Amino acid sequence: MVLKMSANYIYVNPVKQLRGEIYLPGDKSISHRALILTSIAKGKSLIKGMQRGRDCLATLKAMKAMGVEVEENRDGLVVHGRGPDGLKEPENVLYCENSGTTMRLLAGLLSGQSFYSVLSGDEYLTKRPMRRITEPLRRMGAQVFGRKNGQFPPLSILGGNLKGMDYSLPVPSAQVKSCLLLAGLYADGKICLTEPCRSRDHTERMLKFLGAEIEVNGLRIRLKGGSFPSAGKIFVPGDISSASFFIGAASLLKGSKIKILNVGLNPTRRGFVEALLRMGADIRITRMEKRCEEEVGDLEIRGKDSLKGIVVEGETIPQLIDEIPILAVVGCFAEGETVIKDAQELRVKETDRIKATVTELKKMGADIEERDDGMIIRGKGKLKGAECNSYGDHRMAMALAVAGLCAKGKTKILNPECVAISFPEFWDILGKLTAAG
Ligand code: S3P
Repeated sequence: MVLKMSANYIYVNPVKQLRGEIYLPGDKSISHRALILTSIAKGKSLIKGMQRGRDCLATLKAMKAMGVEVEENRDGLVVHGRGPDGLKEPENVLYCENSGTTMRLLAGLLSGQSFYSVLSGDEYLTKRPMRRITEPLRRMGAQVFGRKNGQFPPLSILGGNLKGMDYSLPVPSAQVKSCLLLAGLYADGKICLTEPCRSRDHTERMLKFLGAEIEVNGLRIRLKGGSFPSAGKIFVPGDISSASFFIGAASLLKGSKIKILNVGLNPTRRGFVEALLRMGADIRITRMEKRCEEEVGDLEIRGKDSLKGIVVEGETIPQLIDEIPILAVVGCFAEGETVIKDAQELRVKETDRIKATVTELKKMGADIEERDDGMIIRGKGKLKGAECNSYGDHRMAMALAVAGLCAKGKTKILNPECVAISFPEFWDILGKLTAAG
């Protein structure tokens, strides 16, 4: 499947099918939250299955820079939580690399600390919008500064003396929600948040699991200031967003049959699976249980002869926000139109994912049209190999790899090692699943 890989490019050849049974590395969103919450809990916690991508390692490094001791044993990562007020002022800038989750969640946590800290990141992260967090954090009483009046990193924060608030989020964003909940833990009074529509709710679930007083009622969330999480044992399920690339590829390649075991199936993250089911894919949940307040289970995916185009819009968008590049690839092979609307948030992800997806799939011969808030794909049932740019965006690189597997001819993907941001094992697991194909 993979012909040649260097740091700068990889060649992907077409295959007929994907076969095999896999476990995936831990969920990225849950791993960040586990590291942060166990760091401010008092005493020893265990995180089993933490993800080791660059984003999560940036969060880990930041927690260590604030005095948190972490060790590895054969069961997982042992975090020696310093308690709610035990973090130390970091001696240097906390470098968040490419990770929006690290920056936004830590900004919330640091707003609760009565010390000075600075958050920065790589050339992509420093272009991402931060007023969505700096504005409400200031309202809570934190002193938060960033370039362009709080819009861009680096952010510098002098926290402490926060007050609770009642706040409606202007955009559905789990990062903003989680940032404010972390600040809310340190607030005097309670914080009440209203989301415009439901975004991933891992923070709420983990806070509940670790004993914080949090109430969720539809789109309203209430958290009592001072009700800090306790130490505990957290199991991190496989990452459903990483799984989506294999789910997409196996659905498109007819003879495929794969199983993905122990993967997170939280309803706020199942949008891609549900979209593919609407397109006619053969995806079965063969086992499901609840662990640490999160649904976890096994999936079985078989290739299908044909899929049909669908419209994805509105409240479903946050449930598959990270899966839209791979959904667009699937749309290229579906009959009729696949329309993606209300997804303007994609323009401020690791790269402008609307522009990047449209530009790169066009190079592969797709009939795809850019819209302000999404794209229209007219499925032609085929793509051709081309030289494609990942723009240093991990999800672009992985979506293009799937496009390459299903295309005619060779596809060259530039900067393929960026998959390590969320999924360092991606090329190896793909190699394993395509070995029979
Ligand atoms: C994430 C939330 C999403 C998602 C990102 C991870 C999280 O971002 O795109 O990859 O862990 O909270 P937004 O909540 O900003 O949409």
